[in-house]
Amino acid sequence: MRAFTFHNPTKLHFGRDQLKQLKTEAVKLGKSVLLVYGGGSIKRSGLYDQVLEQLELAGCTVTELAGVEPNPRLTTVMKGAELCRRSGIEWVLAVGGGSTLDCGKAIAAAAKYDGSFWDIVTKKAPVEAALPIGTVLTLAATGSEMNGGSVITNEETLEKHGWGSPLVYPHFSILDPVFTATAPKEHTVYGIADIMSHVFEQYFHHDANTPVQDGFCESILRAVIETAPKLVQDLENVEYRETILYCGTMALNNVLSMGIVGDWANHDMEHAVSAVYDIPHGGGLAILFPNWMNYVLDDNVARFRQFAVNVFGVKEDGRSDREIAEEGIQELRRFWTSIGAPSRLANYEIDDSRLEEMADKVVGGGTRGNFRALTMEDVMNIYRMSL
Ligand code: NZQ
Ligand code: ZN
Repeated sequence: MRAFTFHNPTKLHFGRDQLKQLKTEAVKLGKSVLLVYGGGSIKRSGLYDQVLEQLELAGCTVTELAGVEPNPRLTTVMKGAELCRRSGIEWVLAVGGGSTLDCGKAIAAAAKYDGSFWDIVTKKAPVEAALPIGTVLTLAATGSEMNGGSVITNEETLEKHGWGSPLVYPHFSILDPVFTATAPKEHTVYGIADIMSHVFEQYFHHDANTPVQDGFCESILRAVIETAPKLVQDLENVEYRETILYCGTMALNNVLSMGIVGDWANHDMEHAVSAVYDIPHGGGLAILFPNWMNYVLDDNVARFRQFAVNVFGVKEDGRSDREIAEEGIQELRRFWTSIGAPSRLANYEIDDSRLEEMADKVVGGGTRGNFRALTMEDVMNIYRMSL
């Protein structure tokens, strides 16, 4: 285990009827709020009206930014920041999925930065200030509700990058599983693939003496594997939604990273694909991750064997460690296919014509990932395996 410092300042309100906390939280953050949301799902579900009611009880004046895209765009961030400056906004409330939350975080930081926000995304400028942000989450997936990260797409240059700052951890996040129950099957499945991928990024490492961390990871994965097939057959089941929602938050709120260094190459490879082809993040991960696993398996067979046995219950019979490990990877592919996740880039009509462009975005002249530092050629090979 490596030395670490852990600090997560987000106050989590989790469970049914927790939206009633919004009024109290809003009072603390100020009278003038920018309400950020996506393409309309919160209006159809009735959440929008309930949020406005709480903000009214808190005495807030509400300015709205609607229409945040899945894979949120830099132009939308700049538009939101301009609204904040013009309307004297004191804080940002993002209500929706990970894209809306990420956009809200970016707006909160962009409102306090005079240049192009892309400087911050590309780490050319530091985040020195940000408006406070609160969130109400409607989709279990990214973990954005309890971390300081955000992913933004520059639609002009076709780049998509994560950035982060301690200043954009949500001050509070409200997670009521009922509000996730309207998510359609495809986005529910993408979210599940994303949650599991976040665990994988932190489970596949070479650090020693991490039995508690391993157990946390395996426990989340087993809960998702047990619950997801039932949820996709019964999308409005709030108990299943609750389990997946909790898994999603715990998968990426930094708890699993205590004492280890995560990999994150699959996320970079996926971000390059969705930068160019605008595909759903979880769909891209479901395609890439098992291929990465097969590609790097020999770097730590024991780790993959542990995954196979402890997560998928693969039998420890007379076979070699490598055979057991391989079966675990096959089980993952089978599992994702069984709940309706894609398995090939061809499922999104992606062919081999832009693989080099995407691989170059991933490695940028260097390497990516920590489990194995992937070169340009490695990334090309994994993309080819995924066609
Ligand atoms: O836009 P609306 O109308 O709200 O519809 C959304 C959207 O079309 C819909 N949806 C969400 N909740 C719903 C619902 N529809 C009905 N009922 C509900 N309750 O689902 C669609 C997808 O939403 P989106 O927010 O794009 O999905 P997700 O939460 O998967 O976010 C994906 C984005 O997050 C980034 C991804 O790269 C991608 O840009 N990530 C952010 C991370 C972070 N901040 O820590 C980490 C992740 O690894 C990821 O990279
Ligand atoms: Zn992700």
